[in-house]
Amino acid sequence: MNLFDVYPLNNITITKALGSYVWDDNGTKYLDMYGGHAVISIGHTHPHWVKRIEEQLHKIAFYSNSIKIPVQQQLAEKLGNVSKKEDYQLFLCNSGAEANENALKLASFHNGKKKIIAFSKSFHGRTSLAVSVTDNPAIVAPVNETDNVIFLPYNDEKALEKCFSEQGNEISSVIIEAIQGVGGIIEATESFLQKIRFLCDKYNAVYIADSVQDGYGRSGQFFAHDYAGADADIYTMAKGMGNGFPVGGILIAPRIKPKHGMLGTTFGGNHLACAAALAVLEVIEEENLIENTKKTGQYLLDRLSETEGIENVRGRGLMIGFDLPENQKNLKKNLLYNQHIFTGEAKPNVIRLLPSLAITKEQVDEFIDALHIEIVSLQELVTA
Ligand SMILES: Cc1ncc(COP(=O)(O)O)c(C=O)c1O
Repeated sequence: MNLFDVYPLNNITITKALGSYVWDDNGTKYLDMYGGHAVISIGHTHPHWVKRIEEQLHKIAFYSNSIKIPVQQQLAEKLGNVSKKEDYQLFLCNSGAEANENALKLASFHNGKKKIIAFSKSFHGRTSLAVSVTDNPAIVAPVNETDNVIFLPYNDEKALEKCFSEQGNEISSVIIEAIQGVGGIIEATESFLQKIRFLCDKYNAVYIADSVQDGYGRSGQFFAHDYAGADADIYTMAKGMGNGFPVGGILIAPRIKPKHGMLGTTFGGNHLACAAALAVLEVIEEENLIENTKKTGQYLLDRLSETEGIENVRGRGLMIGFDLPENQKNLKKNLLYNQHIFTGEAKPNVIRLLPSLAITKEQVDEFIDALHIEIVSLQELVTA
């Protein structure tokens, strides 16, 4: 049987990983500035994470949500402390799309309304509602098309106000990434996020902060959206939450009340996933990784800003992007095959950096040195 061929693959097989490095089956070492798409938060195969999962595996890996699972409560408490959202409630699931799906559905249960506001260049996942609020017609199947979603331009306060003033009574929720990831590292302004908060309060709508990529410390704050000083009603999480173990979740404001049967899942919140997620939070705290993200992220941003040959360096913490001029369009590929460095991209010409939150200044220097070599070599190719 063949695999269903939906992914363009690099011809590399990774067989080992540790911290910010991975090794292929020939023993070649790669620096990972991509974190398997923002997933590796505390570093590959972190010993505490491995130990926690291993210990849990020997006790019990899974039982359904029909019994008490104390490790879920431990996770909720730890997450409340680290994120400073102690009064929020936690619902656990398995992925980012599922987190958004549950958030949008919960918002609609909560206020009984149907319409959702989403924004240009957004990406929220591939399940039915999540893909409907994603601004990419190429991945929306006819069956996912719905009149319930209104797309507005990102950061356009006037358009948002107009939409609420015309349809506020029908709007159930607003979903937004504070820093668009797939969209190319674009930040929402503080006043735009504050405006969303204000209008959601005014019209009884739910503010959903999609924190799947920019959350969990990646921006240098636990939730990126909080740089605006306005709390969301629901924060959705996945990627960095399990450091590679599949786990997602939503944090729900106290004013949104649960009812038995309202949401549910077979695998969400299983013992193993909770152990992995707890290990991640313990390491984030123990190793001051949010502080490291701020400091080392700023260092990376500064070094990139001084680098000639790339454009529009931007981002926060360890979620950084820059544009490639036409003569540098092979930079990502050359970094991978010549310098053995993984980076991410956003179409059409953005390089996205999403390394582990534990990356060091020395590893940033290693990346910058390699970047300079490849930029110069592509420039020389053009002038030759
Ligand atoms: C902002 C954002 N939301 C949701 C998702 C979907 O997450 P998943 O692939 O875990 O379903 C992604 C994935 O890239 C994302 O970047």
